[in-house]
Amino acid sequence: MAKKPLNIGMIGYGFMGRTHSNAYRKVGNFFDLEYQPVLKAACARNEEAVQKFADQWGYESIETDWRKMIARDDIDVVDICTPNNLHKEMAMEAAKAGKMILCEKPLSMNTAEGEEMCQAVEKAGVANMVWYNYRRVPAVTLAKQLIDEGRLGKIFHYRANFLQDWTISADLPQGGNALWRLDVDAAGSGVTGDLLAHCIDTALWLNGGIADVSAMTETFIKERVHTETGEKKKVGIDDACAFLCHFNNGSLGLFESTRYARGHKALYTFEINGENASISWDLHDLHRLNYFDHKDDSLIRGWHSVHVTDGDMPYMDKWWVPGLQIGYEHTFVHQVADFIEGLSSGKPSSPTFRDALETQKVCDAVLASAKDRSWHNV
Ligand SMILES: NC(=O)c1ccc[n+]([C@@H]2O[C@H](COP(=O)([O-])OP(=O)(O)OC[C@H]3O[C@@H](n4cnc5c(N)ncnc54)[C@H](O)[C@@H]3O)[C@@H](O)[C@H]2O)c1
Repeated sequence: MAKKPLNIGMIGYGFMGRTHSNAYRKVGNFFDLEYQPVLKAACARNEEAVQKFADQWGYESIETDWRKMIARDDIDVVDICTPNNLHKEMAMEAAKAGKMILCEKPLSMNTAEGEEMCQAVEKAGVANMVWYNYRRVPAVTLAKQLIDEGRLGKIFHYRANFLQDWTISADLPQGGNALWRLDVDAAGSGVTGDLLAHCIDTALWLNGGIADVSAMTETFIKERVHTETGEKKKVGIDDACAFLCHFNNGSLGLFESTRYARGHKALYTFEINGENASISWDLHDLHRLNYFDHKDDSLIRGWHSVHVTDGDMPYMDKWWVPGLQIGYEHTFVHQVADFIEGLSSGKPSSPTFRDALETQKVCDAVLASAKDRSWHNV
């Protein structure tokens, strides 16, 4: 049967604009779905640049004004791939226009904005999702399955890191493409909203809610030239952040993120210790899940490295043959597939805006705790 078209209007053609476009193009080849994404329009301010992007990826048209694109009758889904300070305005407008919304993470600049966004999509009754894509790494989805089956038993510890090293140079400006991450007015926060948000989303999904946090942040480079003005401007983001927390299930959490860990590019890792077993995962080796089971015969007991490629493992029956692994870009293909399956089944795919708001609440508590150096309830 012919698939129904799902017309995509993409805002932003940077890093995420590319990962999402790739996912829309691939998903129908690997997943049997009711809807086929159609690359209807790409939008950004620079006409020449967005036309180049549209030609490269096969978008049918371009717009340079995102309001105009959202208003178009031939757009079903608005995909927000712009800096964080634009998410709310774009999402509110898209909800008002009755469009489905796929929004990049973090949902918003803060919890108050996020709450408004949730209310807007719920009032409009439009399908919505936030791109916390690491949930869809097959090894991470497998971790969720093993935890939900109760294999780990009572959880004692959750530990996560997200380490990078790309902002160590004081010569790096703030503002503009990709570097908007260093400008607090565009990003809202530094590593907390950019990197720890991923760790927090995964943790809430795997280990449940967080009750309270105690955090510290540091801004190592205090001033940077702003790309747009050429003037030096105070740096308002956190370059590094570490926090302790209590989960509602009684386990203890320890999270760290920095862009000053020389030698690390995107080292996202987590480890979970339960009474029966432990799990660990590492983005640099994303197709493996490390598993230790205390039940094993003591003579062969040890950490197993599970190569997550067999057909009975999450998502893997859609790809190649056992033993052949997939990578980073596939997580976005999985997320589109799940979103479309949610449309067909009527059971919204997670994380919705409302789910992603929980991460925002933790981020806000972390930043507040770092500021006044005390424990904060979430
Ligand atoms: N899920 C993930 O793993 C992941 C990874 C990277 C970034 N992100 C998120 O994705 C979003 C975008 O990040 P990125 O890395 O793609 O940034 P980027 O700088 O590579 O791209 C941003 C895009 O937004 C466009 N843009 C800016 N202002 C605009 C406006 N007023 N109208 C239309 N377009 C505008 C820019 O032209 C650019 O194409 C951010 O919210 C970021 O946090 C998520």
